[in-house]
Amino acid sequence: MDRTLKFCVLLMLVALVNASFTKHDFGRCERAVRNWAYSSLDKETREDKHTLRDLLFFLHVPRTGGRTYFHCFLKKLYPGSLECPRSYDKLRFDPSKPNCRLLVTHDDFSITSKLPRERTSVVTVLRDPISRVFSTYEFAVEVAARFLVHPNLTSATRIAGLMRSRTKGVSTLDIWPWKYLVPWMRKDLFDRRGLRQSRGLPITKSNDSYDMEEFAMPLHEFINHPVAEDIVHNGATFQVAGLTNNSYIAESHEVRHCVQKYKILGKYVLQVAKKRLDDMLYVGLTEEHKESATIFANVVGAQVISQLREPNTSVTGVDNTGHSSLSNSGPDNYEHQNHTLDSRASETPSNEATESKMTVGDLMEAYEDCVSSLRKAQSQRRTFSLKRISPVKFSTKARLQVSDEVLQQIRFLNDLDLELYEYARELFSNQHKNVLQKFTEERWESMSSLVNWKLLPSV
Ligand SMILES: *[C@@H]1O[C@H](CO)[C@@H](O)[C@H](O)[C@H]1NC(C)=O
Ligand SMILES: *[C@@H]1O[C@H](CO)[C@@H](O)[C@H](O)[C@H]1NC(C)=O
Ligand SMILES: *[C@@H]1O[C@H](CO)[C@@H](O)[C@H](O)[C@H]1NC(C)=O
Ligand SMILES: *[C@@H]1O[C@H](CO)[C@@H](O)[C@H](O)[C@H]1NC(C)=O
Repeated sequence: MDRTLKFCVLLMLVALVNASFTKHDFGRCERAVRNWAYSSLDKETREDKHTLRDLLFFLHVPRTGGRTYFHCFLKKLYPGSLECPRSYDKLRFDPSKPNCRLLVTHDDFSITSKLPRERTSVVTVLRDPISRVFSTYEFAVEVAARFLVHPNLTSATRIAGLMRSRTKGVSTLDIWPWKYLVPWMRKDLFDRRGLRQSRGLPITKSNDSYDMEEFAMPLHEFINHPVAEDIVHNGATFQVAGLTNNSYIAESHEVRHCVQKYKILGKYVLQVAKKRLDDMLYVGLTEEHKESATIFANVVGAQVISQLREPNTSVTGVDNTGHSSLSNSGPDNYEHQNHTLDSRASETPSNEATESKMTVGDLMEAYEDCVSSLRKAQSQRRTFSLKRISPVKFSTKARLQVSDEVLQQIRFLNDLDLELYEYARELFSNQHKNVLQKFTEERWESMSSLVNWKLLPSV
């Protein structure tokens, strides 16, 4: 045989081995994903999913506005003593407080394996996946930019570490997914600042805030990075399915990697995620803000109020760790820990809902004031942080400049989330109809049973 022929034969052999390996790998993946899906779907459907159970778990998908539900609804409904330890602030659930009633975290669904499942109701809010990716990028850059007060990365990291060990509180840097996204962005911003300083680069000619590489990682670079693949894309589906990079379930990492590798296996994950949404007590939509809030108040709020009013509610003998873990805001204590807001929320008597005659109407009113002050504070903070990387300025208007190619890529990378979101929209509109129906039935019996009905379209 001449050399070329030998070479060809060798190439063919390599291709064959490769193909059989790929086939074998796909087979392994398919088995892993299917086994996981079947065991997840095994659990029987709940008939009484509309009834609030003892423990409310708010599965908070990052950047969906869940924070307003936490501060402006749940903290007004539940006394601090009923919050599960470190709820919201810290990712890993600590089951040392068995009688807690409220858990709000970025944990994925797999945390329910640690909860009394039969006594737990789950609620969540979903957002348009493209907006969620934008918002994740913007928030990571915003929080990282706050560190630019420091002369260099070493000193910024050191100060952040000191702040965390000195205060007992938990900062954004302790919370998934920010504990990965922020340090990554922080290093990136410092590198870019270093380059600007050493080169004395002319100021950018770009007027697109999502593509100013002298100042921040461009959006197209962010979305195509392996870190974003690990924790941003299809993040809502993975969180609802219990398959995030932060899952409690050992096999979840293999299943997630398989689904990322072979897109066709995504259908199994969607099947599980949709079933989970079906079984939830409430699913809101970030886009339908007012209606979502109204339904939340009437479906969840009303039940919490009556549940906590029941005489057999035991509130004794629980400590206050939920609140005492909050400390003052240092330079690394961000969004998740605004002391002013938290202390304001906990100033309300701890048993307001139980003793006073709080109604759904009072709740809605308090919510609206709270939301507007929360939003104002957030936007001020954003403007202030982004000053450090001026001329970068994120806004809905600026988003319009992003090219179709980048948008298309975001869609491609978030195919599961796009489908799950469509599904959630259907669920939402059914939920909406049910609430309207309930309202019309009860309308003449008690006007107060469903409040803020003006927000709902006329029947
Ligand atoms: C970083 O800044 C600190 C001042 O906060 C300085 O002491 C240190 O030498 C700097 N490190 C480097 C590597 O430039
Ligand atoms: C940004 O620049 C492009 C061309 O360079 C221009 O078409 C566009 O109108 C500018 N947008 C803004 C908001 O200035
Ligand atoms: C989760 O993602 C981050 C960022 O890519 C990575 O550093 C970390 O190792 C991942 N964890 C797991 C369990 O895959
Ligand atoms: C907390 O929020 C309030 C607005 O309600 C704001 O005035 C205050 O500056 C915020 N605190 C921090 C540390 O961001």
